[in-house]
Amino acid sequence: MHRYDDPTAARAWCEARRQEGRTLGFVPTMGALHEGHLELVRRAVAENDLACVSVFVNPLQFDDPADLSRYPRDFERDAELLQGAGCQMVFTGTLAGFFPESATAEGIESEPAGAAAEGLEGACRAGHFDGVATIVRRLFELVVPRRAYFGEKDFQQTLVVRAVAERLGYPQIVVCPTSRESDGLARSSRNLLLTPAERPLAVALSRALARAQSLFAAGERGVGVLRSAMHSELRELEVEYAELRDPERFERVPTDVDRLDRAQALVAARLGRVRLIDNLRLDGP
Ligand code: PAJ
Repeated sequence: MHRYDDPTAARAWCEARRQEGRTLGFVPTMGALHEGHLELVRRAVAENDLACVSVFVNPLQFDDPADLSRYPRDFERDAELLQGAGCQMVFTGTLAGFFPESATAEGIESEPAGAAAEGLEGACRAGHFDGVATIVRRLFELVVPRRAYFGEKDFQQTLVVRAVAERLGYPQIVVCPTSRESDGLARSSRNLLLTPAERPLAVALSRALARAQSLFAAGERGVGVLRSAMHSELRELEVEYAELRDPERFERVPTDVDRLDRAQALVAARLGRVRLIDNLRLDGP
């Protein structure tokens, strides 16, 4: 597996492979890799001639400096896991390395995240999705992948990234299902920050979604009822939101009178100093 610390060297590798006629599958990450990331990588390996991964804790998308500084980092371990998953190239870099044209972080030209960034994560984390859109655009420009792989775990992010890909005209965005621990907790690099006492409480997020799903499957369409059922499962956590959206028209908040046959339930909650998110597509009769 090739390893580069410099985005320019990674770009040259990608370009050379594309000139040989090989398709590239790309998985952008912030490292501290877990099974959820590796499922994306294996899929990229299976569906393309070559797979490459970026590992970069992008400061542009952190609204909380404490969250940025304690974000887990272990590049050596990440590289070993990626090699085992069949990845051919991993690269990282510094903010200045990714944006050599800008002398300061403030000088970086921001990619607008668009309408999908409104509400929920966009409302709770100011500037977060602009930071995601900006780095994802730059990563796509460096790699020029045929396909890029994202997790449904970050549902709103998949919509933001689709909008970036639409503007650029590439790559094809592949969204992969949320990978979960055996108790249902969605895998996340931030789970490493939970204390042993907090870890069992974290299952409340997936339990809240499962409760909404069982009500929805039984025909419940009252948004207030579904929302309060989720809140009641989350009562031991500090809830930021427990909401429903129409997955096809995300910005629209459904009301009780909607005849929804589909809905996306999304939750965000804090447990101590750790912020966790999860979501589930509700299917009903
Ligand atoms: P990160 O949180 O490292 O996630 C990298 C990719 O892995 C994202 O597409 C995310 O949705 C996916 N992922 C994380 N946990 C998952 C799980 N349990 N199941 C399935 N997929 C999962 O998301 C980011 O990094 C950044 O915002 C990034 C896109 C790299 C831009 O900086």
